Amino acid sequence: MRKKVTIVGSGNVGATAAHWIASKELADVVLIDIIDGVPQGKGLDLLEAMPIEKRDSHILGTQDYRDTANSDIVVITAGVPRKPGMSRDDLLNINHNIMKTVVGEAVKYSPNCILIVVSNPLDAMAQAAYKMSGFPRERVIGMAGVLDSARFRTFIAQELNVSVENVTAFVLGGHGDTMVPLARYSTVAGIPITELLDATTVEKLIQRTRDGGAEIVKYLKTGSAYYAPSAAVTEMVEAILKDKKKILPCAAYLEGEYGMRGLFVGVPVKLGAKGIEQIVEIKLTPQEKSELDRSAASVKELVAVIGV
Ligand code: APR
Repeated sequence: MRKKVTIVGSGNVGATAAHWIASKELADVVLIDIIDGVPQGKGLDLLEAMPIEKRDSHILGTQDYRDTANSDIVVITAGVPRKPGMSRDDLLNINHNIMKTVVGEAVKYSPNCILIVVSNPLDAMAQAAYKMSGFPRERVIGMAGVLDSARFRTFIAQELNVSVENVTAFVLGGHGDTMVPLARYSTVAGIPITELLDATTVEKLIQRTRDGGAEIVKYLKTGSAYYAPSAAVTEMVEAILKDKKKILPCAAYLEGEYGMRGLFVGVPVKLGAKGIEQIVEIKLTPQEKSELDRSAASVKELVAVIGV
């Protein structure tokens, strides 16, 4: 049976995720959007690239949720992207209203799917989707940590002039200015970067990671990042569809882990066919823990505003 992934929102992140997923032949893809013609046009265009790519992925653009029925995964990118000077949090109310309509429709037709939420502010939108869907927590996952870690990895590889393949990194906490890049658990060929770089340089890379989204927004002026975000979505989709049991930093609903309850926060999880198969608890120093708590507190504030 062919796998099916629906992407809600056929804008920059959604369409680019469809591109990566189809060109890796991970699944058939359904693109959906409220703007008439956009998903249809992008879907057909991408479908026509498949003979050249030598891939048999089927791509369908639609505005009808019936076409999304029985998706294995539904990725939600619907929303408004950040404009220059706008924080992720400014998006809160606009994107929450969008989430209200799309989650209901998506889960009605795919009651057994795994939801991957991308819309910002990420952790609050993931929490909204979790509450609206009524799904078990294993099946609602926020995409943030994979992206933030990829940015951190890029900057580490550049700084040390080494292959990105040698670099692993962990970024925990909310997807915002309070995210917590963990230098001690970020390594080059297994060596913690704290052994390879001085504290000032590590701090500089951490700050650039925190500002990574804003750095792109500043360049683009009319939109936000989408290549790296959609590649991050694709890595999560692949881990789930191939049941890889891959440990990745994702936003998950915590029920006591890391001393937190009832909140989406970025933590290391094991992704497999069931979605989040395990939340991995790593030992944090008191400073790391207090940074994570501070980050969670800012997620809590947003969640309180929208009452989810
Ligand atoms: N249903 C379906 N699609 C919708 C809806 C809705 N109710 N509301 C908006 N959309 C669509 C828009 O029409 C648009 O095509 O969502 C798409 C968003 O695409 P872009 O504006 O290109 O934004 P993008 O860069 O893809 O970012 C999407 O991901 O990274 C986050 O902060 C970002 O929240 C934003 C989201």
